[in-house]
Amino acid sequence: MTHDEHNWWRGAVLYQVYPRSFRDTNGDGVGDLNGITDNLEYIASLGVDGVWICPFYRSPMADFGYDIADYRDVDPIFGSLADFDRLIERAHALGLKVVIDQVYAYTSTEHAWFAESRSDRTNPKADWYLWADPKPDGSPPNNWMAAFGGIGWTWDSRRRQYYHHHFTPGQPHLNLHCDGARAAVIDVARFWLARGVDGFRLDVANFWFHSAGLEDNPPSSDTDAVKPWDMQAHVHDRSQPQALGMAAEIRALCDERSGVLTMAELATSQPARRMAEFTSPGRLHSAYSWVFLGDDISPELVRSTVEEVLASAPNSWPAWSFSNHDRPRVLSRWRRRDRARWARTLVALLTSLPGLPIIYQGEELALEEADIPFDKLRDPEGIAFWPEVKGRDGCRTPLPWSAGKGAGFTTAAESWLPIPAAHEASSIADQTGRPDSMLSFVRGWLAWRKRQPAMTGGVQFLDLADDLLVFRRSTEGQSLTCLFNLSDDEVVYPSDGLGDRVAFDLGGRVAGSDVVLPGSAALILRS
Ligand code: BGC
Repeated sequence: MTHDEHNWWRGAVLYQVYPRSFRDTNGDGVGDLNGITDNLEYIASLGVDGVWICPFYRSPMADFGYDIADYRDVDPIFGSLADFDRLIERAHALGLKVVIDQVYAYTSTEHAWFAESRSDRTNPKADWYLWADPKPDGSPPNNWMAAFGGIGWTWDSRRRQYYHHHFTPGQPHLNLHCDGARAAVIDVARFWLARGVDGFRLDVANFWFHSAGLEDNPPSSDTDAVKPWDMQAHVHDRSQPQALGMAAEIRALCDERSGVLTMAELATSQPARRMAEFTSPGRLHSAYSWVFLGDDISPELVRSTVEEVLASAPNSWPAWSFSNHDRPRVLSRWRRRDRARWARTLVALLTSLPGLPIIYQGEELALEEADIPFDKLRDPEGIAFWPEVKGRDGCRTPLPWSAGKGAGFTTAAESWLPIPAAHEASSIADQTGRPDSMLSFVRGWLAWRKRQPAMTGGVQFLDLADDLLVFRRSTEGQSLTCLFNLSDDEVVYPSDGLGDRVAFDLGGRVAGSDVVLPGSAALILRS
C-alpha cells in the first residue's frame, strides 16, 4: 500500500449519502443500498474520493436508523448484507472509498442487549445501559433532558428504574464505563472491517460517556433557547474525558489494517477544542463538529476555528461540513443575494479548507431546504418542536434525478418525504451536460482542485478586509491564495503580494493593481 493509500483521506473529498433519499430501486418510496450501488458512477463522476453512508442497519427507525436494533445486519428496507457487499465491490472498482456510520452512544430499545439488560437487575448485561433509581418522590434521578423533547429519562416497570436517553426514548444510552458494553460496540467495527469498509464516521463521539456521579447539569447561557435541552450546559451528560481513551481504543483497532479512516462527529459548544482533543496523537484521524452548521459564516469564524484546531493538534486532518442530514441546507441558512454564485463559492471554500471536506447529497445541485408541511413531517425533532424548530425533514428529501413524478428517485405513488417542485427543476438530468450548471461547476472545480498539490499543504490566514476571508495554501513548489467574499457587497483590495495570475476564477478578478470581488465571489491566485 502506498503512502497515499494508507492516508487516502489526505487530499480527499467525501460525498455524504443519506440512503433513504438517494435512490429507490424497489418502488417502496424509500431509497436503498442497490440504489446507491447502481449510481456510484454518478458519485465518482463528481470527482470525489469516497462516500460516507448514513446508517442502514436493522432499526425500528424511531430516529431513522440512528436507533440500531442489530449492528451487524442491513435493515430490509435498505436491502441485505449481500447488497452491501456488492456496493463495496462496485465502489472499490470505481476507486471510491466507503465510510460507514458507527453509533456507539446508544442502541434501539429493540436491540437484544437492551431486552436482556431491562429484564432484571442481575443479568449479565444489567449494567450495559445507564439505569438509575428514582428519587424518593418517584421523579427522575437528575435534570438531564432529551434533545428531541421531554426529559432524558424513561421509566421501565420491570426494573423499576429509569434508563437514560439523549434523544428519543427509543435510544437508550449505553453505559460505556462498563468494559463489556464498550468491548461489544467496538467489536462491531471488526465485523464491518472484515467486509471491506475504508473507515468510520463515529456518531456523537462526545456523547459516549456520561459522568457516573449523575450530577445535575447547570443552566446554559442560551437565553433564546426553544428546546429545554438547549437551556442546559451539557457538562455531565456528555464530554467526559473517558471518550478520548475510547477514541484511542478504536484507533488501535483500525490501525490493525492499513488505510482505515476514523472520523468523529462532535456536537458540542466548544467545537475547535473538542476537534483538537479527539484528533490528537494516538486518537482519531479526523473529526467534524457543528461549527459550520450554524446560522451564518464569517471570516473570523473560519479563521479562528481552523487556527485553533491546528494550533492544538497540528497533525489533525479536520473534517468540515456546511450541510448534512441534521441541519437546514446551507443555501437556506446562509443567504446571499447572488444565490448561484454563492453556491459555487461555498463549495469552493469547503473544499479549499485544510482537511477533509464532506459534500452532502444535493449540495452539488445547489438545492435549498424543502418546506415540509406539518402533516408530512417524519423527524421526531420537528414533530416535537414545530413550528419554531422545523426539524430535519427539509434537508432529507429525496435527491431529484429527473423532472416528473417521483423525480426519477422512485416509481412509488409517493416518496417517503415529498420532493419539492423547485428540486425537480434542478434535477441531475437537467444539470448534466449544461456547462453553466452548478453540477458542471462542481465537476470542473473538483477536477481542478485534485491537480493542485497546495490543496493538501499548509495553511496561512491573511488579514485583509472585513468580509474577506483570505488564506494561502502552500506546499513545496506551489502556493495558492484563496480569496472569498462572504458578504453581498463588492470588496476591492490591493493585489500586492497576493499573486498575479488567476488560477481559478469564481467571479472575482484582478483589475490593475487591485483584486475586485463582487458580493459572494471568490478568486484563487497564484504567483
Ligand atoms: C445524527 C443524527 C441523530 C442523532 C441522534 C446524530 O449525531 O447525526 O441524525 O438524530 O445522532 O441519534
